[in-house]
Amino acid sequence: MNYKNKNLDFSKLKEQTKLVRGGLARSNFGETSEAIFLNSGFAYNSAETAQSRFNGEAPGYVYSRYLNPTLKMLEDKLSLLEGCESACVMASGMAAVFASIMCQIKAGDHFIASRVLFGSCFHIATKILPNYGIEVTLVDGTSQEEWQNAFKPNTKVVFIETPANPNLEILDIEFVANLCKKHNASLIVDNIFASPFSQKPFELGADIVVYSTTKHIDGQGRTLGGCVLGKEEFIKEILLPFHRHTGPALSPFNAWIILKSLETFNLRMKQHCQNAEKIANFLESHPKVKKVLYPTLKSHPQFAIAQKQMKNGGAMLAFEINGDKNDTFKFMNNLQIIDISNNLGDAKSLITHPATTTHSNIEPNEQLKIGITPAMCRLSVGLEDVDDLINDLSQALTKI
Ligand SMILES: Cc1ncc(COP(=O)(O)O)c(C=O)c1O
Repeated sequence: MNYKNKNLDFSKLKEQTKLVRGGLARSNFGETSEAIFLNSGFAYNSAETAQSRFNGEAPGYVYSRYLNPTLKMLEDKLSLLEGCESACVMASGMAAVFASIMCQIKAGDHFIASRVLFGSCFHIATKILPNYGIEVTLVDGTSQEEWQNAFKPNTKVVFIETPANPNLEILDIEFVANLCKKHNASLIVDNIFASPFSQKPFELGADIVVYSTTKHIDGQGRTLGGCVLGKEEFIKEILLPFHRHTGPALSPFNAWIILKSLETFNLRMKQHCQNAEKIANFLESHPKVKKVLYPTLKSHPQFAIAQKQMKNGGAMLAFEINGDKNDTFKFMNNLQIIDISNNLGDAKSLITHPATTTHSNIEPNEQLKIGITPAMCRLSVGLEDVDDLINDLSQALTKI
């Protein structure tokens, strides 16, 4: 019972090897698969040891709300995948979004976000932050002029989603990152729609990247989880004091599931993205479809930016039916394989009507301004055979 872990130099290894081997810290038993440490606390051999763990003089775990060996393996694997120094996993994507903002902002500071946001991110920006005395500006993220005019001397944090949920609006990360550097503001990129397979925001100048691991990282619709990634100094000095004392800890059981999912992440994503591109092309040529939004389609309004900063088009797309809300509901209700669900990033293809679900907290006139029409659907393309998915969409479209 004295297994010694291998000391791999991951800087010399490829991403797929990092996904399978990264973060692995076997216990003395030498178990092949990562172990689940489903414990809340830790015991110490002496009161002195407990004291030195608490004051940071000795390494080691103290409490699973802070960290635990299974959570640590996941954080290390995610940092390797993202190519950054450090990570902190959390109970959900929204816990990660909220903590990444709140840990570094205070009353009197100014916060900027692009206007197209997932409903809960929009709620934080427009309802929660102003209640805490934080000044908020929402910009049209595609307008360089609006970005340039938005910064103020007290701008502290900038938050963007790209591609954004639900209309896949694409923002120029490098452009926004340069402005943030100039104004000494911290840039958080919510990279959930792209996933780390399609876009690496740190390479483009982001300070912080957030994920809902609930989506493609789990990839099989089982767990809720989230992660904040960044420089070690930010995670250790700024985020961890907030995280440890407010308690959005990830369950070790969920962390273990996510760890196992990451081993196949790139293999799954390759197929997700191939399927999505084929479906985007099919929908674009269909007479009952008015518009398709997918990053690698030439018709995408920010196609040039997508080409510059994305490695592929990802697994999410949005489209508008030629018709009204009733036609759109009829089309969705007639799908035989694709499920109606507000979740995304599953092996099962999922379709959403953002106006009445994920973005229903946004006023109808505001929805229209950002292209959320009653005929818009968001599709999370799964891992079924793509021909079956195209046939399913095709037969449902003939019903309207
Ligand atoms: C862009 C975006 N950010 C954050 C979240 C929140 O993730 P979670 O549901 O894991 O809290 C979602 C969920 O759909 C999302 O789409």
